[in-house]
Amino acid sequence: MNEVFEKLNHCLKSVREKTDFVPEVALILGSGLGEYAEEIKVEASIEYKDIEGFPISTVAGHKGRFVFGYVNDVPVVIMQGRVHFYEGYPMTDVVLPARLMGLLGAKVLFLTNACGGVNKEFRAGDFMLIKDHIASFVPSPLIGGNLEELGPRFPDMSDVYSKRLQQIIKEAAEEEGIGLREGVYMQLTGPAYESPAEVQMCRILGADAVGMSTACEALAANHMGMKVCGISCITNMACGITEQPLSHTEVQETADRVAPLFKKLITASITKIAAK
Ligand code: 6GU
Repeated sequence: MNEVFEKLNHCLKSVREKTDFVPEVALILGSGLGEYAEEIKVEASIEYKDIEGFPISTVAGHKGRFVFGYVNDVPVVIMQGRVHFYEGYPMTDVVLPARLMGLLGAKVLFLTNACGGVNKEFRAGDFMLIKDHIASFVPSPLIGGNLEELGPRFPDMSDVYSKRLQQIIKEAAEEEGIGLREGVYMQLTGPAYESPAEVQMCRILGADAVGMSTACEALAANHMGMKVCGISCITNMACGITEQPLSHTEVQETADRVAPLFKKLITASITKIAAK
């Protein structure tokens, strides 16, 4: 058996020894947005370190566990903390958790992240519905032997961020009176933030926001037939868009500030997604 698939199944078995919970929606929480998992009706939680072979984050402030429970009666699995490519894990490990949640039964992958604003109309604290992504600057998680059990060698990419889910999230935001931008998310490797010239490049290529996650996970989930949606929190403007130097502290401060609105938006969206 392919060793990526073998590891995935090993992790699946390890989770299944701890819980038989079947989620409908899988939610990945971006940096600073992790406390959402504490708001839900929790049925079970599993620390990543208790899953043999599971990739574990090295970044301060990133928690590491799956939380299983209910958001208004919708069964969900939440990743409180994810690993990033810049931590040195191969892309197949970076997307292992997303695939695992798919194998646990989740039909929808709901991605969130903290990222930098490239579109000059945006402001720190804005939310952006992800319409599409540019992942051409990071290695594809699908490189290597194809996992035939999961999906095709050459997956279609025409509706990665499901238009149907986009519409539902827009309606949810409107009903809650929460402003929602839309745009293209570009994933780069990090860990350094982009230089002003690189941010200019991103803009010219059509990016509205830039970050270090999400697109790879969307690729892996799309490959295995999951429906995908995503919301970015613009925690700061990217380098050169404003004069202000960037810091991880600013990213966290903005995420903290908008956390209550973010929670409302996520809850309303998940509830509506499950109802339709
Ligand atoms: Cl400006 N760039 C990247 N790559 N990631 C970020 C960011 C910027 N701000 C938050 N996360």
